[in-house]
Amino acid sequence: MKKIIITGGAGFIGSHVIRRFVKKYPQYQIFNLDALTYAGNLENIADIQNEPNYTFIKGDIVNEDFINELFQKHQFDAVIHLAAESHVDRSITDPLSFVKTNVIGTMNLLNAAKQIWNNNFEGKRFYHVSTDEVYGTLGATGLFTETTPYAPNSPYSASKASSDHFVRAYGETYGLPYVITNCSNNYGPNHFPEKLIPLLINNIIQNKPLPVYGDGKYTRDWLFVKDHAVAIDLVFHEGINHETYNIGGFNEWQNIDLVKLLCQKMDEKLGKVSGTSEKLITYVKDRPGHDLRYAIDANKINKELGWSPSVTFEEGLEQTIDWYLENSEWLNNVTSGSYQKYYDNQYE
Ligand code: NAD
Ligand code: TYD
Repeated sequence: MKKIIITGGAGFIGSHVIRRFVKKYPQYQIFNLDALTYAGNLENIADIQNEPNYTFIKGDIVNEDFINELFQKHQFDAVIHLAAESHVDRSITDPLSFVKTNVIGTMNLLNAAKQIWNNNFEGKRFYHVSTDEVYGTLGATGLFTETTPYAPNSPYSASKASSDHFVRAYGETYGLPYVITNCSNNYGPNHFPEKLIPLLINNIIQNKPLPVYGDGKYTRDWLFVKDHAVAIDLVFHEGINHETYNIGGFNEWQNIDLVKLLCQKMDEKLGKVSGTSEKLITYVKDRPGHDLRYAIDANKINKELGWSPSVTFEEGLEQTIDWYLENSEWLNNVTSGSYQKYYDNQYE
């Protein structure tokens, strides 16, 4: 039986990855390690909590002794590492937390894996989940490929870039078998409403202003979260050691166009007169160091592993909106308490 530790499995993407692995691979023993920060929520994976091949462990990847003991105890065969501080705006106000979790936390996992595998790498794998933001920003044209030089612009992307470099260095220096994927912006169910799409959905439900940074002409490449989980499954099983793969949606949207599309869809869902939600759009102060455009060339994973997104943006957005409307309790729970304080500070 293969023992796999997945970090950050109570978060947005991690919860979809955990569910997929637990359900699809009963022969694997899946351990979900998560510190349950503001972004981690066991409600995201309540449906699998009693599965026989699933174990939840509450713990912090920054705690070196704890991580070493955990790896010694369970002798994991593989790591799929998603735990991170993930929001750019929070990284601007508190960069050090990002260094601790994203850099030191990753280092602790690398060291613990290296120690228990002890040069016996047969059947072992360290999978590091990263972001396209490490490449910095694109101008109006071009795409990020696996060979685009790293040029991170935010403390978040700098911390992710740093962790990517350490993973690569452990591969080169110690022979650690790793794969890295760099994915574009995800959207879908369970997305914490500090990020653009769920924040807009929540604000439209609440009839609150829809904050658009700067002129709204920034562009992102959106991928449905379940398609990311499929890609992770594929790369975990079939990716080549010491390779990196870019994952993207082939789906670029300028923020303002995305906001308008979402407004239109929400009006339809909520039975409001067309144009009602658009009136809530409010241009606000821009994010410092705001990257103009991200867009992924996902041809490598497409050609080598046969992956491509399975849902269109229309379908994915529809499923996402339906999920938020059907899960108002989830939304109320995550927006009570400290969320309000964060929101007031960020958008005051
Ligand atoms: P998220 O913020 O929703 O979830 C992060 C999870 O990690 C939470 O459950 C949190 O409790 C946990 N965590 C945070 N610090 C921890 C610590 N010190 N120890 C243990 N657990 C800790 O993030 P997400 O959007 O699901 O992103 C997951 C991964 O995917 C991250 O590595 C992120 O960089 C990467 N990624 C995200 C996107 C995106 O669009 N969201 C795109 C590409 C890559
Ligand atoms: P976000 O969801 O934070 O993802 P990322 O910064 O990792 O791409 O933001 C997506 C885009 O939306 C980005 O260009 C910033 C912009 N944005 C707003 O205009 N308003 C908001 O309130 C937020 C959170 C983001």
